[in-house]
Amino acid sequence: MLNRPQSNPQLNAKGELTHLLSIDGLPREALIRILDTASSFLEISDRDVKKVPLLRGKSVFNLFFENSTRTRTTFEIAAKRLSADVINLDVARSSTAKGETLLDTVDNLVAMHADMLVVRHAASGTPYLIVDHLQRIGRADVHVVNAGDGRHAHPTQGLLDMYTIRHYKKDFSGLTVAIVGDILHSRVARSDIHALNTLGAGEVRAVGPQTLLPTAIEKMGVRVCMDLQTGLKDCDVVIMLRLQNERMNGALLPSAREYFRCYGLTPRALALAKPDAIVMHPGPMNRGVEIDSLVADGPQAVILPQVTFGIAVRMAVLSILAGN
Ligand code: CP
Repeated sequence: MLNRPQSNPQLNAKGELTHLLSIDGLPREALIRILDTASSFLEISDRDVKKVPLLRGKSVFNLFFENSTRTRTTFEIAAKRLSADVINLDVARSSTAKGETLLDTVDNLVAMHADMLVVRHAASGTPYLIVDHLQRIGRADVHVVNAGDGRHAHPTQGLLDMYTIRHYKKDFSGLTVAIVGDILHSRVARSDIHALNTLGAGEVRAVGPQTLLPTAIEKMGVRVCMDLQTGLKDCDVVIMLRLQNERMNGALLPSAREYFRCYGLTPRALALAKPDAIVMHPGPMNRGVEIDSLVADGPQAVILPQVTFGIAVRMAVLSILAGN
């Protein structure tokens, strides 16, 4: 993790959201405001003309230094539905490949009159570094959205997950939510845990083998379950996670087949949860590793609605940051 200042750099002096870097440290009211604003945007996707002029004249730059299907595309759709100009930096063909530093790239985008930077990077803390730099060059008016930094945070995924849970379950109190799999390397798990605790979920369970659970994770306010059966028992929401092999140093598991046998979500395992439990996954899924296709394509899965809700949630975030 790169060094970052102690204060919460995503809120301005008036406590207003000016960047979205992490769900950690955001008050409940800020989360509820984003979810409520997203509700009002959801219906725009069903209109013939799927546009509102809230970001007309603004430039949103997508800077994805790590691969993405859902996040990059839904940020682009969200910004376009708000009538912004969207520029997708093709990092592989950009001057990053010639050795230009991240902050020199940022300076150049600011010189192109960027209003918002949506940033994904493999290094935890990168969006904080950019915010710090923007403050030092007197351009704190350029908003930064963290679209996933290393294993640290993925706040818009956390928010769209909360939107999905609220959509299907209405109220967080009394809900038991099981987050299953590679929690150690998961920025989504961290964002979900912060959000669920802030929104008052009844019980949040971290379910996985010891090698894939962070040390002292119970201090984040979760119940640790090392076997799937205990973890899924009577839960209302199951959030499955991918094995993030790209962030693992060495083998932490005997084999993918062994992992599926112990922690894969099959119809039989899902039967331990409540009959009306919903199954979520941030994607990309690895079928036959963490989830059986019978579950992924089954009636309890809400994995594709998560993607659709992601557009409305990202519209809400961009719109709120722009001061609407
Ligand atoms: N959930 C998620 O971040 O997916 P992508 O990596 O495809 O953006």
